[in-house]
Amino acid sequence: MEFRPSQMLERLPEQFFAELVRKTMQLKNEGHDVINLGQGNPDQPTPNHIIDSLQKSAENPLNHKYSPFRGQQELKEAVATFYKRNYDVDLDPTHEVAVLFGSKTGLVEISQCLLNPGDLALLPDPGYPDYLSGIALAGARPSFMPLLEKNNFLPDYEVIGKASLSQAKLMYLNYPNNPTSAVASESFFDETVSVAKEHNLAVVHDFAYGAVGFDSSQPTSFLQAEGAKEVGVETYTLSKTYNMAGWRVGFAVGNPSIIEHINLLQDHLYVSLFGAIQEAAKEALLGDQSPVTDLLNLYEERRNTFVHAANKIGWKVDAPKGTFFCWLSIPPSYTSEEFADLLLKEAHVVVAPGNGFGQYGEGYVRIGLLETPERLEEAIKRIEKLNLF
Ligand SMILES: Cc1ncc(COP(=O)(O)O)c(C=O)c1O
Repeated sequence: MEFRPSQMLERLPEQFFAELVRKTMQLKNEGHDVINLGQGNPDQPTPNHIIDSLQKSAENPLNHKYSPFRGQQELKEAVATFYKRNYDVDLDPTHEVAVLFGSKTGLVEISQCLLNPGDLALLPDPGYPDYLSGIALAGARPSFMPLLEKNNFLPDYEVIGKASLSQAKLMYLNYPNNPTSAVASESFFDETVSVAKEHNLAVVHDFAYGAVGFDSSQPTSFLQAEGAKEVGVETYTLSKTYNMAGWRVGFAVGNPSIIEHINLLQDHLYVSLFGAIQEAAKEALLGDQSPVTDLLNLYEERRNTFVHAANKIGWKVDAPKGTFFCWLSIPPSYTSEEFADLLLKEAHVVVAPGNGFGQYGEGYVRIGLLETPERLEEAIKRIEKLNLF
């Protein structure tokens, strides 16, 4: 027998990048040396002191029992200490922190917490695809906010207009931004808070790349803007800062009512994370931070190598200020998909076509700096041979 999925599942958007993964695998299986710059999976290992903590905590029988439903209080206190230390933001660990199974889960959950069928939600275009998944599961309507180069890839609230802003219930933002690599200033977040207050809008700021800012500048947290906690939450992940993508641990911080809604939903879905993972996450947040500095230096070196090599062959790109991505415009005679296909077939280099992130991603491709400088240079050498620039 075959069973039909629910209408809720049928509303989910198509996984755009599945086809790219399939084509990449096919080339690899044929024995080609493929340089994969198409993904966002951190390539470095988790720092040893965090692994040691997990190993020790895994032996503690207390952690073999169910964890507290809403996460360990010590972890939530560590999150508050982390935000105070890094951003000078005060958080009440009990009411303003929710522990998440990675931030992807939290981002999808927030739509279920705040949206009813038919509600309007604003989301960036181009943008990280899971915001749309959350909105679709809730049966809500998406309204896309164009992120344009001329506005430094920030949404222009004047253009979005009062009508959309006052109809919408929820807005997703993400800086440093995937895929454009743009960063946001504190003044943009101040403007966001005042727009949200005026229109009764909840804001979710996805701070997945919060640790990845270059040229000695730390990305701004949304919660650093005055009044941010009144209008929204920020999601953070240990995946990128501590190379813990496989561990599935993140958190949401900010507005206590939204945090309560997330916790309530999670009371019904999970019994929180494995206790040893929570203890290791605490070690990551409060322990030695020098691996984070080393990781930043490594990404910055890769960024410099890639940007220099690309500009040298005439593929003009400004050095990104954050994230481990570069967002490059492509020659106008190709669509993003045609261009990505060409690089894959002729150079065996995988890049992510911009239209996979939304219609305003057309004309761009995203490159992940998740290979060594030598491989990044090799990718550019192969592309140079195609005489495209
Ligand atoms: C913008 C953005 N948000 C959220 C995530 C999800 O991260 P995680 O679920 O590992 O916390 C990612 C992962 O690639 C991302 O790029």
